[in-house]
Amino acid sequence: MRVIETVNEMARWPRTGNIVLVPTMGALHEGHRKLIKTGKALTQGEGNLIVSIYVNPTQFNDKEDFKAYPKTSEQDYEMCKEEEVDLIFCPSDNEMYSERESVSVIEKRLARHLCGSTRQGHFDGVCTVVTKLFNIIRPTTAVFGKKDYQQLAIIKQLVSDLNFSIEILGAETIREQNGLAISSRNRFLNTEERKQCHAIHKALVEMDLSNEKQCSELITLGKSIIKSEAPLGRLDYLEIVDRQTMEPIQTIDRPALAAMAIFFGNTRLIDNIEINSL
Ligand code: PAF
Repeated sequence: MRVIETVNEMARWPRTGNIVLVPTMGALHEGHRKLIKTGKALTQGEGNLIVSIYVNPTQFNDKEDFKAYPKTSEQDYEMCKEEEVDLIFCPSDNEMYSERESVSVIEKRLARHLCGSTRQGHFDGVCTVVTKLFNIIRPTTAVFGKKDYQQLAIIKQLVSDLNFSIEILGAETIREQNGLAISSRNRFLNTEERKQCHAIHKALVEMDLSNEKQCSELITLGKSIIKSEAPLGRLDYLEIVDRQTMEPIQTIDRPALAAMAIFFGNTRLIDNIEINSL
C-alpha cells in the first residue's frame, strides 16, 4: 500500500484501469469499511482503490468541532491495509490550501435545506475540497455514503454542473445492532444517550412503513417516537424532502427522503431513510 502526501507526487502516479476514490476525513469505522469494500469491488481486480484521508478545515463552521474531530491515523492505515487499498492520499493543509487561495466552489440550491440551513458554508467547503480531490486524484469513480445523503446529492450535482467525468456511487448506511447509524461521532455518546439513539432509526423506519402520504402527519409520527423513546435528544430537524433537489415536499408523490439531525448533548447525529411513492 502506497502512501502519498503531496499533490505533485499524486500527479505523477501512473494510472491504469478504474481509479476508484473513497474520500474520507479519517477516523475510519465500519461504515467506511463498507465504502472501501464497495470501492474495491469496483476496481474489478485491475484498477486501483484510493482512500483520501484529509480533515478539511473549510467545511467546519464550528472551530471546536474541527479541533475535536478524532484523529486515528494508525488504525486508519490498518483498516486500509486489511481492505487491500492500493493508495492512501493524506495531504497536509499547506498542500491543499495555499495562503493566497481565493477561489472556491459555492453550491446555491441544494445546500439551502436540511444540514445546510444550520451549517453555514459547510457544503461550500465540501464542494471545494471534493473538487480539489477530484482534480488531484482524477478518479473514474468515487464512493460516498448515503448517511450523508444531502452531501451525496450535492456531489452528484457538482459532477453534473462542473462536467466531471466521474461516476458517483452511493453506498448504504451501516448500522449498529440497535439501528444507530455508524458515525465517528458515536464515540462521544454516554451510555444512556447511546441506548436512546435506537429511536432515530426506529422513527425513520416507522415513517417509511406507515402508509401515510401526508408529510406533516409522517413528521408528527416521527417526532412522537423521538419524544417518547429519546427524551435526551434535541431535534435539530426532521423533514421530508425530494431526494434529488432536497426541497421539502408536502405529499409522498415522488422519490422522497425523510432526514433527521438530532443533538444528544453536544453530539449532533444525522440519519435518513428513502421513502418511495408507490
Ligand atoms: O464525508 C466526508 O467525510 C467529507 O465530507 C468528505 C467527503 C471526505 C469531504 O471532506
